[in-house]
Amino acid sequence: MVTGGAGFIGSNLTLALQEKFPAARLTVIDDFRSGNFKNLAGYRGDFVAQNLATLDWHAQFGTEKFDAIFHLASITDTTLHDQFVQVHDNVESFRRLLNFARSTKTRVIYASSASTYGAVTQASVESNGAAPANVYSFSKVVMDNIAMREAKENPDWVIIGLRYFNVYGPREAHKGVPASMIYHLAQQMKAGQRPRIFKHGEQKRDFVYVKDAVEGSIRALDAQTSGIYNLGTGQASSFNELVDVLNKCLGTNFRPDYIENPHAHYQNFTQADLTNARSALGYEPRFPLEEGVRDYLQWLYPDVT
Ligand SMILES: NC(=O)c1ccc[n+]([C@@H]2O[C@H](COP(=O)([O-])OP(=O)(O)OC[C@H]3O[C@@H](n4cnc5c(N)ncnc54)[C@H](O)[C@@H]3O)[C@@H](O)[C@H]2O)c1
Repeated sequence: MVTGGAGFIGSNLTLALQEKFPAARLTVIDDFRSGNFKNLAGYRGDFVAQNLATLDWHAQFGTEKFDAIFHLASITDTTLHDQFVQVHDNVESFRRLLNFARSTKTRVIYASSASTYGAVTQASVESNGAAPANVYSFSKVVMDNIAMREAKENPDWVIIGLRYFNVYGPREAHKGVPASMIYHLAQQMKAGQRPRIFKHGEQKRDFVYVKDAVEGSIRALDAQTSGIYNLGTGQASSFNELVDVLNKCLGTNFRPDYIENPHAHYQNFTQADLTNARSALGYEPRFPLEEGVRDYLQWLYPDVT
């Protein structure tokens, strides 16, 4: 089961699961609030179009038992500031899912976020305190809290949270503005425009390619115990460095166009400490920034060599 499977990471995960486990019966749940069926071209499984915030799992699935539930569905527009909608839909969707999975102790692997770390200046370790700067991140912190409480109360139930860092890659265009800055900058440069980045491009992010994020997520199927793990590359790259990489891969020579940052609470730095993900999941990212960007651009623009 993959919730949010019409979305960016969810569709990449669903298609990777289909390839890795061709005999598996896959079911996707998504209400298309930000996803798109086109992301699932080639998908051979079932699809349940339902809103998880109101879904009655038992009425929908009866006694059906899933091997594992990947929960990626979420409002992902971090600039949506309606506190009720953001927290209600994200947290209650997760609560309903946990209530369904608890009796059968079905493994739950859910998407948390690096945004839970807030404003930091060093690599983040999972045990660092949460510091949500917006209501989206707050909803993820609450999900982490209830997941780890459930895991503690049910030692024989494996619940894994994955703190994705700044994910980019195929099948994200449907997100519009919330799509990765790699996507947006590439589109600007491909259209012959200078890439617009916030002054003065020294902000650093752990940009992780979706193929690595998916690989780490699938590895959570074999984790022995509950926990929350970072999924990034372990490296932070500045926006200026990103423009250099894009110029190199696109064969262009654009100088950044620096603009004011309109966001009051902005993560100027993200970097995953991967110690725990390496030891518990055996996770090892394969795409440093340049390799990931090159692979992505070949998918986006097949004419780019
Ligand atoms: N992309 C990133 O960089 C990133 C970083 C950290 C965490 N995450 C998390 O990873 C997950 C996937 O994000 P994404 O980038 O693929 O975003 P996305 O918006 O492409 O995917 C989310 C999907 O969930 C669906 N959805 C949302 N609310 C729903 C509901 N109540 N019922 C049913 N379906 C619902 C949407 O229609 C969409 O298809 C999310 O939980 C997100 O918070 C993403």
